[in-house]
Amino acid sequence: MVNLHALGGMSGVTFERPAPRFSGKFDSGDCRGLASKFLLTRKILMRKSTAFSGLLVLVLCVSHSFASMRPAHAQKAMVTSVHSLATDAGVEVMRQGGNAIDAAVATGFALAVVHPQAGNIGGGGFMLIRMADGKLHFLDYREKAPAAATVDMYWDKQGNVVPNLSTVGYKAIGVPGAVAGMVMAEKKWGKLGLAKVIAPAIRLAREGFPLPWEYANDFQNKHLGEFPESKRVFQRDGNFYQPGETFKQPELARTLERIAANPDDFYHGQMAEQIAAAVQKGGGILTAQDLASYEVKERQVIHGSYRGYDLYSAPPPSSGGVALVEILNILEKFDLGSLGADSAEAMHLTTEAYRRAFMDRADFMGDPDFAKVPVAQLIDKNYANAWRESINPQHASISKELKRPAGSFNGLDTVARATGSEPDETTHYSVVDPDGNAVSVTTTLNGSFGSAVTADGLGFLLNNEMDDFAAKVGVPNMYGLIQGPANAVGANKRPLSAMTPTIVTKDDKLFLVLGSPGGPTIITTVANVLMGVVDYGLDIQQAVDAPRFHNQWLPDKVMVERKRFSPDTIKLLENDGHTVDERNAYWGDAECIMIDPKTGERLGGHDERHSYGKAAGF
Ligand code: DON
Repeated sequence: MVNLHALGGMSGVTFERPAPRFSGKFDSGDCRGLASKFLLTRKILMRKSTAFSGLLVLVLCVSHSFASMRPAHAQKAMVTSVHSLATDAGVEVMRQGGNAIDAAVATGFALAVVHPQAGNIGGGGFMLIRMADGKLHFLDYREKAPAAATVDMYWDKQGNVVPNLSTVGYKAIGVPGAVAGMVMAEKKWGKLGLAKVIAPAIRLAREGFPLPWEYANDFQNKHLGEFPESKRVFQRDGNFYQPGETFKQPELARTLERIAANPDDFYHGQMAEQIAAAVQKGGGILTAQDLASYEVKERQVIHGSYRGYDLYSAPPPSSGGVALVEILNILEKFDLGSLGADSAEAMHLTTEAYRRAFMDRADFMGDPDFAKVPVAQLIDKNYANAWRESINPQHASISKELKRPAGSFNGLDTVARATGSEPDETTHYSVVDPDGNAVSVTTTLNGSFGSAVTADGLGFLLNNEMDDFAAKVGVPNMYGLIQGPANAVGANKRPLSAMTPTIVTKDDKLFLVLGSPGGPTIITTVANVLMGVVDYGLDIQQAVDAPRFHNQWLPDKVMVERKRFSPDTIKLLENDGHTVDERNAYWGDAECIMIDPKTGERLGGHDERHSYGKAAGF
């Protein structure tokens, strides 16, 4: 037994050291395991037609590692991602002597092939790196608005937002940054070079991979069918791919080979011309010049602390790091551990912290190159103390009536209130290498399959990240988020994100690598996993599996994963004045790693909400 009291800062719970996770390898004959995984998948996902059920077992037999309620264990290196083949790509390059950056880039390119819903080269992301010596780097390769973007580009003549214009099709596309970001990371900190780390992705694109049933189902996406190139590539012109069928992407393989040979082609060469032409033919505004002027930004990491742990996370244009630190600052003085995970009391206090941080997000956050974001004030512990004072331990606050604490916070309380929204498909992966270098990456097309536009002849989807702006201040976006003028559409601006790639250390030693997709729920999912470990003494797999709840200020509700909280708890929350919304079966995909402080083992927590990924290492 490991006593987590002894690990400093962790409260109150002991857990048994998990047994090795089937040595990271799955023997495809183990159908007893598959049956239980199948049941778990059915139970958690509660999805779609039972006609797929038999096929699910078949597909799992073909392509999956064994699922576990315990973390994956490895002595030296670990990768966690939403797709087992992308995890394998990262592990493969580390076995060849590559480091965590090589593995992250290999996993990132592989996800662009095996997880086209979100893995991407046509989108953007954030990469947080912590080298073994403690040096931190943050790469912002977020998409930016094309130079021709204007504040009213999604409005009709009456000034109303035109439905779908910022979410589907050519006008929704921002300038992609993913290739530039991954290439820069590889060049600056990788060891193996681009050709070697892209190789697994090229192989997967060329040779294909068996489609899990969820993917075969997802590929029938209505919007993909609206764009001929997407319909051809992902829907075989209407002869839909079936679960277990091998999905090959020869055009994408060729595109990746071109990038490996000359990454500049994407931004300055013939490929840039091809991308711009593919967007403009449908009335989009992205130009080759937009691609040529795209820049990856190295930004200063957000640093906070929580119960003796140091947190490092994403700065603006993500709201993630600031909101995470603010939430935890507010909660730090509450003894959540003794209230207990998922107790109504702990959920109430946590919800109140979420509410306040999301209100600040709406009012203050946007691209720091265009708006002054008061980061230092928002992550100041005194500010959190003042916010905490406004929490009634017995009763829910009303979001619309919530007043920011008055006082010496450089005028934060005087800022005009925004009334605005955010987008649905993103992916996160985490890597730790044998030397202790760690990489936490969240990358996105925004919505599932992004804009649903595939670049002609190039085989990859383009993002719909423009919807992460407030299409109009005060009008909710795809995620129901309200956002302020700081996040209005503007030429060359980066839309505000919620992506929260995070690294946690204790006494300067690597402890956690965290992150998830999920739009605004990313922030609360990361907080939930972190509190699961630090406050509630869960191991990383338990923390990832733990039920999730969310509040984002507006709409004024506590969203909870369906059927994962007891009716008694929900009743208690309602008695406290909360409107509880049991919305989706599940959300997010936390792909996380914990380092055992005693042994240095790498413990991988893969999110069982997605049955086709895995944590693996050596
Ligand atoms: O950057 C953001 O915050 C969004 N584009 C993330 C979207 C997302 O996580 C969708 N995931 N399921």
